[in-house]
Amino acid sequence: MTEADNSAVPVITIDGPSGTGKGTVARWLKRELGWHLLDSGALYRILGYAAETSQVDLDDEPALVLTAAALQVDFIEQDDGVGVLLAGSNVTDAIRTEACGAAASRVAAHAAVRSALLERQKKFRRNPGLVADGRDMGTVVFPHAVLKIFLTASAEERAQRRYKQLKQKGISVNLAQLLGEITARDRRDEERAVAPLRPATDAVIVDTTRSDIRAVESHIKSLVTDRGLARAIS
Ligand code: C5P
Repeated sequence: MTEADNSAVPVITIDGPSGTGKGTVARWLKRELGWHLLDSGALYRILGYAAETSQVDLDDEPALVLTAAALQVDFIEQDDGVGVLLAGSNVTDAIRTEACGAAASRVAAHAAVRSALLERQKKFRRNPGLVADGRDMGTVVFPHAVLKIFLTASAEERAQRRYKQLKQKGISVNLAQLLGEITARDRRDEERAVAPLRPATDAVIVDTTRSDIRAVESHIKSLVTDRGLARAIS
C-alpha cells in the first residue's frame, strides 16, 4: 500500500493535556490491538530539544521549520518502552524534562512548524492500525479516525501525578511550581491560534480525575469493543 492510499487503515486518537494518562493508555491500547503508535508530543519535544541544542530561537519560525524538515528521528523498542533516537543519539530521557515540555509547547504554537510536522505524522498510519496520541490528533491530523478519545483531569490532580512520578525518579520538585507550569502549558496549548487543544466535536470525553488507570483502560476497552475494533483485546 502506498502512503497516499492508507485512508482505509483504522486510527484511534487519544488527545488531551499532559498528566491525564494519555501516554500510558495509548501504549496499552497499541499493545492490546497490535497496532502502530504515534507519540506526536515526542516529535514536538524532539524539535524543541534540537532547536535548543543548536541555538535556534524558539520564536524564529522559519529557522524552526528548517530544523523540523532536517530532523532524523527513529522510534525504537527498548526494554522499558519506546526509545527515541535523534540522528542516532538516544534522547529518550533528555526530551522528557519539564524544560523540554515547555520548549515543545513554544515551538508547537507556530503554524508553519505544525505544517512541517504534519506529513511525518500521517506516515505513521500503517496496517493493521494506528493509535495516535497528542493534542490535535482527532481535530487536525486524523479527522476521520474511527474512535476519538479526549482524556481530561483537573490541573491539581495532574500536578500531583507528575509530582509523584518525579519523586519516584529521585527528582525533587515543588508542587506549587509544577502546578504553575502545567497551567501555563495548558493555557498556551488551548489559546494558540493554530490547532488549539480542544476535543473534536465527535470525541468521547473521559475524565480521569477520580479514576485510576485500570478503570480508564476498562472504559476505553468498552468503547473500542462497541466500535467492533476489539477482536484482539481479551
Ligand atoms: O504530550 P507531550 O507533553 O509530550 O507534548 C509536549 C507538547 O507538545 C505539548 O504541551 C504541546 O504543546 C505540544 N503538542 C502539540 N500537538 C500534539 C502533541 C504535542 O502541540 N499533537
